Amino acid sequence: MRIVSGIQPTGNLHLGNYLGAIRNWVKMQDDVAAGGGQSLYFLADLHAISMPHVPAELAANTREMVAALVACGINPDKSILFNQAQVPQHAELQWLLNGTARMGWLNRMTQWKDKAGKNREGASIALFTYPVLQAADVLLYQATHVPVGEDQKQHLELARDIAQKFNNDFASEDAPVFTLPDPIIPPEAARIMSLRDGSAKMSKSDPSDMSRINLTDDADTIMQKVKKAKTDPEPLPSEKAGLEGRPEAANLVGIFAALSGLSVDSVLADFGGEGFGKFKPALGELLVSKLAPINARFVELKGDTSALDAILRAGAAKARELAVPTLDKTYAALGLVRG
Ligand code: TYM
Repeated sequence: MRIVSGIQPTGNLHLGNYLGAIRNWVKMQDDVAAGGGQSLYFLADLHAISMPHVPAELAANTREMVAALVACGINPDKSILFNQAQVPQHAELQWLLNGTARMGWLNRMTQWKDKAGKNREGASIALFTYPVLQAADVLLYQATHVPVGEDQKQHLELARDIAQKFNNDFASEDAPVFTLPDPIIPPEAARIMSLRDGSAKMSKSDPSDMSRINLTDDADTIMQKVKKAKTDPEPLPSEKAGLEGRPEAANLVGIFAALSGLSVDSVLADFGGEGFGKFKPALGELLVSKLAPINARFVELKGDTSALDAILRAGAAKARELAVPTLDKTYAALGLVRG
């Protein structure tokens, strides 16, 4: 098994990232190490320049994100932890895959449509070709599994399409260049929603900080955000079916279930018939108890810039080594002469 996944260093880690992806990264890191496989986790800093950004903030966020990932349990001795910018093979492979990816495929990507909005002419080319770089990220390492939240599923399907077309066009059936990666999406936390709007995903780009729980929020902030979270006037139902048509309630119960390790039905068996006045403090306390140790570790790590840089440097050296054979095969398959 080879696990590969990435996160954009565009701000704090939030609960959606943690429950949708990072918690699985940690779990898979241990499973894979036990089975003799390998896990690679990276900061998608090259993706981050597809939107307007402030260079000094990107550098600071990149280091903070390393501290946050280590605080969550990513162990640089077990996983290869690095940033794309120190592994030029990602950008190189993207260019080689640009010959295979089709305009029509990229035009259908919902992230492109959402982020470019009505102003497509003014969007960066990087935003349009973003999914090709994402395909390069995983294909470069022959990833077998990619742990992500639901919102990345379409990008991974595209990575498979690109791999398949490249293999068909440029490789023989018994010696494909690329492995087709499978997404791993946690059923219980595939899509954590905003605390202010049950129809929008929890996101770093939401202008309201009240819409998300950041892994760096202190206990008071977490309790406040949960208390102010949007709900409806009904008490909680006793069974899952009763959450239908109640997106905010379903989201809060889902977060409780994912954090406690209980099923939604058993959370509702405990809280069915209760109002949010009772449920919200219980959820707030659960969040605080799970996030406080991560927060404490993060605060310890984040000031040591040279230690964080050393983690990225060492991880990037290992990643570059793993990247070379696939990149060489890709150049050769395309008929590109390199001396
Ligand atoms: P990013 O930085 O937006 O998010 C990182 C991970 O967190 C998951 N996630 C969520 N899961 C559940 N509920 C939410 N509200 C939520 N918000 C975010 C995302 O699904 C993701 O797994 N394009 C990617 C980064 C990337 C990547 C890759 C991922 C670049 N190359 C290669 C996998 C493989 C992104 O912007 O994720």
